[in-house]
Order: sequence, then structure tokens, then C-alpha cells
Amino acid sequence: MVKKAIFPVGGLGTRFLPATKALPKEMLTIVDKPLIQYAVEEAAAAGIEEFIFVTGRNKSAIEDHFDHSFELEETLHAKGKDAALKTVRDMIYEPGTVFYVRQQEPAGLGHAVWCARHLINDEPVAVLLADDLIFGNSCMAEMVASYKSGNMVAVMDIPKSDTGSYGIVTPSADDGQLLVVSGLVEKPSPENAPSNIGVVGRYIIEPGVFSQLENQSRGAGNEVQLTDALARQIGKVPFHGFRFSGERFDCGSKIGFLQANITFAMSHEDLADHLKNWIENRFLAT
Ligand code: G1P
Repeated sequence: MVKKAIFPVGGLGTRFLPATKALPKEMLTIVDKPLIQYAVEEAAAAGIEEFIFVTGRNKSAIEDHFDHSFELEETLHAKGKDAALKTVRDMIYEPGTVFYVRQQEPAGLGHAVWCARHLINDEPVAVLLADDLIFGNSCMAEMVASYKSGNMVAVMDIPKSDTGSYGIVTPSADDGQLLVVSGLVEKPSPENAPSNIGVVGRYIIEPGVFSQLENQSRGAGNEVQLTDALARQIGKVPFHGFRFSGERFDCGSKIGFLQANITFAMSHEDLADHLKNWIENRFLAT
């Protein structure tokens, strides 16, 4: 039922300068894959068939990443490096299923999503933020499996002191996995936060959200917020929060990015023992 996904990748990545001066932040690597590829694979595992990237200036590396690299493939072929060749060929999606829309100004997540409106029909669409990296089962696949109608956001409990970094929901019912959401506010201070349940960057949104985004009203940070458009749909269509089974890493922060690299590396058979031994000897030995 959810066949399209939007990947907003226009952000500047100022928290990772100078690394992100010329390199898109979504191309930062966790072990051997860029963040954006994890998000795309998570969406593909959820049955998504069309991939819509909302890009900006200096983001062409993302387009190249999901296209053929003729010289590389020819060289790998000539040298008989079949496994490497398969790796780069497997990530090419069917022609006509990958779209790029340009967001000319960084005016917020809501604005980025709105830029994709002409590619969406009267249908629910997934939105995935590559900064939020999920270790474990595909979060989007879990959401799609439990989605029926309306809007849905992935949620997790966060420390109350961090509410200013998240969209925060007001739950009116909570069965431990699915929450009925009766309110949503973008980045409230801890004193004003309605709960400590934060939105993780995975959404399934219905067409009404695009109508809400149409008026381009600015919210927190003087940006067009997806959160505000979702909040305005409460009461008109069902709105659920979904607690996913995986572990989320905030790869928009340096500490989250480093933790993700170590966690993912420890799941690579060829790296785990080496890395563990090295950390123990280098940092933990007395
Ligand atoms: C965005 C959303 C916010 C959400 C967060 C999850 O904020 O606006 O509601 O909780 O992603 O990572 P950003 O981190 O882009 O500032």
C-alpha cells in the first residue's frame, strides 16, 4: 500500500564541518556504506518501489552513488572481482523508479517534503531521514505492516532534557507498541514538553499533510515544519506513534555517529573480534 518514499537530503550538515563542506552529510559512512544507503535499503525492505530524493546544491554525489559507475564496473569485471561487482550492481534500482527533486532553499523538513508533492498521488507515502540510523529490523517495514490509514511516526522514549531536539507527542493511548497520538509539538523545552516520547525520522503521511504544507507557514526555527502539518491533521485522520524494535542512532551528532560505527562494525564478522580486542587492549587494559 505504501509504495513511495521521500528522502529529504538537502540539509547542510553544519554539525560535521569540515567533513561536510563538499561531501553531503548523507554520504558519511558507517563502516562501508553511506547513511543514505542504509535508509534506502530500509525502505526497500518495506516494499517501497519508488525513491524520491529531495536534494540541494552540492548533493550530486548522492545521485552518482545510486547510478552505474561505468569505469568501476568495467574494471571490476575485467579483474574478475565478482563479489565487488555484485555489490555495486545490486544497489542500482529499476530505471524510472528513482527521482530527484531540488529544494532550492533549506526552508525546513516540511518544505523539503512539500517539494516532492507533484510526484505523489492520492496515496500514503513514507518519509525517511537518513540521519536517524536504525540498527536491527527495518523500522519502515514494521511501520508499513502495522499501518492502516492516516499518519504514523516512529517514536522512542528520550531523556526529558532532550525534548528540545525532537518532535514530542502527546499519547492518549499506548499499548506498548502503537500509540494513539492526540498532540504533537516541535522541539519544546523540557518544561513545556507534553511527554518524553520523541519522534524518530520515519513517517508515513497521507495526502492531507501536503495540503497542510501548502500554506508554507513557518514554525520552530522559522522553518516549515512537517511536525506542524501533521499536528494540524490530528482529529481529521487517525494519527499513531509506533515503537519499533530496532536501535536508533542519531548520526546527525558526532557521538551518535561514532556509536553507530562501532555497533555496526561489531555486527560484521570480519571486523568484530579485531575491533573488540583492539578496544580492550588500547583503552581498557590496566
Ligand atoms: C527532525 C524533526 C523532528 C524529529 C527529528 C528526528 O528534526 O523535525 O520532529 O524528532 O527530525 O531526528 P531535526 O533533527 O532534523 O532537527
